[in-house]
Amino acid sequence: KKILVMLGPNLNMVGTREKNIYGEENADTINQDIKSFAKNAGFECDIFQSNHEGDLIDKIHSTLGVYDGVVLNAGALTHYSYALRDAIASVTAVPFIEVHMSNVHKREEFRHKSVISAVCAGVICGFGKDSYRLGIEALKGLI
Ligand code: DQA
Repeated sequence: KKILVMLGPNLNMVGTREKNIYGEENADTINQDIKSFAKNAGFECDIFQSNHEGDLIDKIHSTLGVYDGVVLNAGALTHYSYALRDAIASVTAVPFIEVHMSNVHKREEFRHKSVISAVCAGVICGFGKDSYRLGIEALKGLI
């Protein structure tokens, strides 16, 4: 089984950006850990990061028939991108797990709302890079 971990805008800056929120570990080491989490869970795993909404949408469309599930941290797009939501809804055969490193509910009001949750199988937030591991674990039960 093959899964995709998709990372949206500014997640390449983890380790540099808002360290008090996202920690000091950089995106490259987190990605290595994601790969080993997936391997331990028995999955083949690709990671795709983009700062561009359209590229993320294209990638979501291309998951059909290629990936058995997706762990998605959509960054700030989570809170307002109806286009991303519609893209996920257009590939219903592929389960998506919405993931956030921070506990968005403890933060600014605009982060309390997600426009993608309703088209995802479930949501995990607040566990730092471990949120990705938990997202991968959740996919195990769905695939
Ligand atoms: C995030 C939370 C979002 O609100 C924020 O815009 C991000 C990262 C997280 O992983 O906690 O870029 O998705």
